[in-house]
Amino acid sequence: MPGRSSWASILVANSSGSRNGIPGCSNTADGRLTNMRRLLTRTLRPYVVVAARLIEAYAAWVQLSRRALGDNGADTALPLSHGRLDLERVVHRAAPGLAPIIRGVSLQVAAGESVGIIGPSAAGKTTLLRLILGILQPCSGAVRLDGADADQWHRRARGKHVGYLPQDVELFAGTVAQNIARLGPVDSVAVLEAARLAHAHEMIVQLPCGYDSEIGDGGAALSGGQRQRIALARALYRNPRLVVLDEPNANLDAEGDLALANTIQALKERGTTLVIAGHRPSLMAQLDKLALLRDGRLEAFGHNDAVLLSTEAVVTPLRRVPAAQHAMQERFS
Ligand SMILES: Nc1ncnc2c1ncn2[C@@H]1O[C@H](COP(=O)(O)OP(=O)(O)O)[C@@H](O)[C@H]1O
Ligand SMILES: [Mg+2]
Repeated sequence: MPGRSSWASILVANSSGSRNGIPGCSNTADGRLTNMRRLLTRTLRPYVVVAARLIEAYAAWVQLSRRALGDNGADTALPLSHGRLDLERVVHRAAPGLAPIIRGVSLQVAAGESVGIIGPSAAGKTTLLRLILGILQPCSGAVRLDGADADQWHRRARGKHVGYLPQDVELFAGTVAQNIARLGPVDSVAVLEAARLAHAHEMIVQLPCGYDSEIGDGGAALSGGQRQRIALARALYRNPRLVVLDEPNANLDAEGDLALANTIQALKERGTTLVIAGHRPSLMAQLDKLALLRDGRLEAFGHNDAVLLSTEAVVTPLRRVPAAQHAMQERFS
């Protein structure tokens, strides 16, 4: 099917097509017909050109407004009913011509499964999570949620089913409740439920105005740990089927670590699919599977124990299990 500019040229080409007819003026019936067609063509041509330009301008405007709204153009809202995730030979480069950051990663996460993404700094963990979320697009390969390619999802519809805690937590000027509700209409019941699940409720009610406290631009009025708990509540708002957490315990103390462990356990019991990037053994020991990334390649993927045993470089730090983790393992076993 021709693009819109080709449609314009077809319209213009057809409007001048009568030049291929009988040449010159004539008083015969055919000649008069030809002259009439020429006259009509000349008269209509400017209007056809203007109409074609208007169609092109309208198409460009629609595309621009879709980009401004962060809409990828998919019109059908797919129901994410399970939370299954499939990555098939995913390659990603920051820009054309640069070396790939992610190099042919394939992995499957069943609905309700929990997977830890481990690996050294700059291995590509954050990039992989952003690909899973559809924030970044693969140069080749596919990322599928419940079998549907990311670009088949209407971005806002997909957002309802997916919760994300970024590595660099970003909160916005507004109240705590507005931030948890992702700056949309505040559903108070859902805000409270998410805050309780994230173990942020007790901390929030101690703020000067509780859930209605203004947190300042970027959450400046809060500590790193408080910001992280509110951002975790935001990720869990309205029970998304897929929850993606990037280094969720980066700013947490021991108490925060234990609270996070409780949250993860509760999510597992609810059957939420979890993908979590992190370093701490206490966190990773809770998850069903581990994926080891190194230099953008998947070096190992499988059940928690098998990956730990197969990779000496990771085994060493992860096997040195601190006493706190034993306590936690006992708590959840
Ligand atoms: N937008 C970008 N442009 C160029 N390089 C990038 C970009 N994003 C990430 N990188 C590079 O990709 C590599 C992987 O980054 P990242 O996914 O953040 O790793 P990790 O989360 O494992 O520390 C790093 O070397 C980083 O500098
Ligand atoms: Mg990272």
